[in-house]
Amino acid sequence: MEKLLITGGAKLQGRVEVSGSKNAALPILMGCVLAKTPVVLSNIPHLKDVTTSLQLLATLGAEIMIDERMNISIDASNLRDLTAPYSLVKTMRASILIMGPLLTRFGEAHVALPGGCAIGSRPVDIHIKGLEAMGAKISIDDGFIHAYAPRLHGADILMEKVTVTGTENLLMAAVLADGVTHLRNAACEPEVTDLAIFLTKMGAKITGIGTEHLVIEGVEELNGVDYRVIPDRIEAATYLAAAAVTGSAITVSNVEPSHLKSVIEKFIEAGCSIEVEDSSIHIDCRDRVLRSVDIVTQPYPGFPTDMQAQFLVMNVVAEGQGNIRETIFENRFMHVAELEKMGARIDIDGNLATTEGHSLLKASHVNATDLRASACLILAALVAKGQTHVEQIYHIDRGYELIEEKFHRLGANIQRLSY
Ligand code: EPZ
Repeated sequence: MEKLLITGGAKLQGRVEVSGSKNAALPILMGCVLAKTPVVLSNIPHLKDVTTSLQLLATLGAEIMIDERMNISIDASNLRDLTAPYSLVKTMRASILIMGPLLTRFGEAHVALPGGCAIGSRPVDIHIKGLEAMGAKISIDDGFIHAYAPRLHGADILMEKVTVTGTENLLMAAVLADGVTHLRNAACEPEVTDLAIFLTKMGAKITGIGTEHLVIEGVEELNGVDYRVIPDRIEAATYLAAAAVTGSAITVSNVEPSHLKSVIEKFIEAGCSIEVEDSSIHIDCRDRVLRSVDIVTQPYPGFPTDMQAQFLVMNVVAEGQGNIRETIFENRFMHVAELEKMGARIDIDGNLATTEGHSLLKASHVNATDLRASACLILAALVAKGQTHVEQIYHIDRGYELIEEKFHRLGANIQRLSY
């Protein structure tokens, strides 16, 4: 087991380089199964979820090579297995993204049912309904989703909820289907757009990219390309939030500022100074009063649920009352109990978290419960009095590359300990 030891009080300064986006890399890695010839991906972050995805692809029979610069070559021309085993799916829900590609390319897919996780039940009913509308015969037994379709056909699909991986799974299924597919109420997250652009470069015919109505004209085959995934907007915003809670000034580089419009607006509303360049964001919160902000999480381009926990920490230490309403997941306040152990005063009423601000946080032993909750505990520890132990940090390693190195380089007093 490993933990992070963080002693609060240090100011941050300097520059942090953002890694490639986890949530763009995962669907694109699964999308490599669609290509008849090798794909070479770059800017892929070195994360546990990426390793799990590569293990899954190798289990299916893909040939994988990684060079010293973490460029990854994936050749799925001779897959020999069409089953995603529970041993891998249980560690990463996003494994469900292999279903659309396997089914549309090989006519068959068997994927272990993904567990829920700390932030909610995480059903996949919209994924399944969409594939059935495209002609798939789907059954669920012995803990697996079994899907068959000699060839999927186009369909007009209205997804009843905005679902990121649901949109991605159905998009990948549609690119080799026979005919035209409409995906309505589609997610517009930058990671969905990155996948669509990747598929188009491989030969897919997709219009409406970046909108909630994707139109896909199926083609006969796709071929491998070289592709660089987008930067991780949530990692970038997490470091900006670290500057806000510690009253520091830092620069976040290798980022796409246009992916963070709604979040940048909230940092400015909270009293931070923000300067945006082409691929970097400078934030200055020195000698400023941090003000609480009201937030409602929404699908993109609204405020992202993946930044909810980080802004809750900001509200806890800021001036004034703050209200954060979580509308995407039914149980995404698992971090509140851990923050309260550090002295935070947070009132939870259903999906609303209200804070009065000005909490003086003190060090404690806290447990990470999910990826973004883990990040918020690090932010809290950066300002808490004393040395905080953040435990169960395997959650963090799923989504934040080299997190203690990056924070250490910014001046934080942080170290990883095995115990
Ligand atoms: C993606 O999860 C992200 N993961 C999540 O990031 C992110 O929080 C989430 O989108 C929302 O932006 C990846 O991209 C790998 P959803 P996803 O399907 O696709 C309901 C992180 O921290 N729903 O958009 O699993 C669902 O229950 C992770 O990096 C159904 O009801 O989320 C939820 O309430 C956490 N039926 C809502 O839709 C379905 O079939 C949105 O979920 C699918 C989803």
